[in-house]
Amino acid sequence: MIIFDNVSKIYRMGDETLYALDHVSLHIRKGEFVSIIGPSGSGKSTLMNIMGCLDVADEGSYILDGLPIEQYTEDELAKIRNRKIGFIFQSFNLIGDLNAEENVELPLIYQRVPARERKERVKEALEKVDLYNRREHRPNQLSGGQQQRVAIARAMASKPDIFLADEPTGNLDSHTSMQIMELFHELHSEGHTIVLITHDEGVASQAERSIRIRDGHVEDASTSDPYGDGQQGQTPAPSDRNGDGQQGQIPASSDRNSDGQQGQRPAPSDPNGDGQQGQIPASSDPYGDGKAGQNAAAAENNGEDRT
Ligand SMILES: Nc1ncnc2c1ncn2[C@@H]1O[C@H](COP(=O)(O)OP(=O)(O)O)[C@@H](O)[C@H]1O
Ligand SMILES: [Mg+2]
Repeated sequence: MIIFDNVSKIYRMGDETLYALDHVSLHIRKGEFVSIIGPSGSGKSTLMNIMGCLDVADEGSYILDGLPIEQYTEDELAKIRNRKIGFIFQSFNLIGDLNAEENVELPLIYQRVPARERKERVKEALEKVDLYNRREHRPNQLSGGQQQRVAIARAMASKPDIFLADEPTGNLDSHTSMQIMELFHELHSEGHTIVLITHDEGVASQAERSIRIRDGHVEDASTSDPYGDGQQGQTPAPSDRNGDGQQGQIPASSDRNSDGQQGQRPAPSDPNGDGQQGQIPASSDPYGDGKAGQNAAAAENNGEDRT
């Protein structure tokens, strides 16, 4: 489901070149619960950003569910992201002005989920994290653990295949962390793929396996045969990347791979093909870091501009 083949991310600062990720190869199968563990500065968040299609690799290739990620535009990546990935962050990134219910609902509004279905999904998600009775509370009226549960409900409401969590328990005490980990176990048991990034050995050890990262190197990917079929290290060749039956997983209009004629499709009818910034009110920066264009994964308009 997630295949990194020699992925590098390079930051250049003046004369210095830093490989935040240095030829990382790894494979995470559908339905796995994997932790990525490493010390501060080892490249974990960089890895998560690429895995979550919030950023793209400078070198190497990333195949997500059969999709060659480097070949998509920012606009298309936003749609892939919204459909496939639920993000959970250390600092929860809830919107302070909105109550729990509204926070969970917001990404669904941007995805243009019809109102009735939105209400159902919000209720279901908040019940699942046991906070439906607090639905009218704003973040500052909730504890840290409760805020993180709202953030998990927000991720769940979009029904992603993969949950990507970056230090989700980093701001929580150990008892509350356990409750959050319980939710990840529950999501895993329902068949979701979980990738949990942490520097905490205790948290990491709860996953089925751990991938270690240090100085941008993956030390232990724990799998030398990513496909389990003896064809080690083979990623789909560009000319054959749709021969695996995964083509149907994205809508036809955003699947530019069916004939390999990338770029020949008419421009999207969405006039804001510029990173979606203009479509999102300032207050809707879901990750609270001001990076509306890049990080508005949960809130971006999801594909109503299909041709
Ligand atoms: N935007 C950036 N510009 C320059 N260097 C960066 C940037 N983002 C991260 N880095 C550097 O890349 C390395 C990995 O960072 P990061 O992925 O955030 O590590 P972690 O999440 O494991 O703490 C660090 O040395 C960090 O300073
Ligand atoms: Mg980090």
